[in-house]
Amino acid sequence: MCKFGIHNFLKALPKCEHHMHLEGALTPAVLFKLAEKNQIALPTDDAAFTSPETLAERYNHFTSLNDFLHYYYIGMSVLVDSADYEALAWDYFQHASADGLWHAELFFDPQAHLDRGVSYETVLSGFMAARDRAQKELDISSELICCFLRHLPASSALETFKSDAVQASIKNGKITGIGLDSSEAPFPPELFTEVYEQAQALGLRRTAHAGEEGPPAYIERSLTDLKVERVDHGIRLVEDANLLQQIAERQVLLTVCPVSNVLLRCVSSVSELPLRKFLDMGVRFSINSDDPAYFGTNYILDNYCAVQEAFNFGAAEWEKICENAIHGSWCSAERKGAMLAKLKSVVRDQLAMETA
Ligand code: HPA
Ligand code: ZN
Repeated sequence: MCKFGIHNFLKALPKCEHHMHLEGALTPAVLFKLAEKNQIALPTDDAAFTSPETLAERYNHFTSLNDFLHYYYIGMSVLVDSADYEALAWDYFQHASADGLWHAELFFDPQAHLDRGVSYETVLSGFMAARDRAQKELDISSELICCFLRHLPASSALETFKSDAVQASIKNGKITGIGLDSSEAPFPPELFTEVYEQAQALGLRRTAHAGEEGPPAYIERSLTDLKVERVDHGIRLVEDANLLQQIAERQVLLTVCPVSNVLLRCVSSVSELPLRKFLDMGVRFSINSDDPAYFGTNYILDNYCAVQEAFNFGAAEWEKICENAIHGSWCSAERKGAMLAKLKSVVRDQLAMETA
């Protein structure tokens, strides 16, 4: 809960989440439970794995993106059967629903599961079951974005993309787009041009992590070489005035993750993020949780609150942020219309209350 009187307004806003890794919803408590159930040995040479509490405490002290990723990949090693994946995603949907989420576009990392002998069908069937349930019981629409790991060779991404299982999930509409994640700095976007070309040919949406720890040039090359329609993080865009202008003109959405950026030491505080500048320059962004179970159990509303504490935006600024997030979503025009109508009524009520 944020300190400001605007908390109920922030909660009521119809939210879209575009940057959330489903594997990042694995809490330490569930991690230990699944490790026991699936007989997965956790590291014995790291005291962080003594208990869920010690692990949660370790998560408060990530030193970098790579330090986090080390724990993220160990964590997901406890996911084995379809029910594990379903429970993981359902846990996320319940939290996000309480936060006022209407629409989610969710990342997952097939290669990290295939490498451990877990089939793509197992992962997908679990996530699909949770998505169907979220639609029915929570009225949350969602899409899946299949991500490729940039620390692995591009040939592995291509092989995974071309596999029968992934191609079938594209043909039957279960996958909406592709993304690129994991360690950024040593792995420039252009390494993955071929898989993005093939995805574009199939009519898939395209996004990529860029400008989180990597330079603004990676944002530019994601646009020129990968032909992404959206940029994940993108906060280092402020370092390049020309590119900033271009992104504003082309209305490319940045999926910003404020709490993640602080905890992974990309910035020292949320107030250091260029959100005021983005708003003033017409750069569109959405606010997202990235890996909520690893980042202080801060789900989407906590990220909205963190932004409010840092920037003290007014109702009109929040309306713009939410409107941009809705317009930048990969959902139907009908769904966007419903979210825009709700947004209008929430903002109207807030303004009425402020002037009363
Ligand atoms: N960046 C890169 N890879 C990731 C992230 C992130 O923030 N979260 C999960 N995988
Ligand atoms: Zn991410």
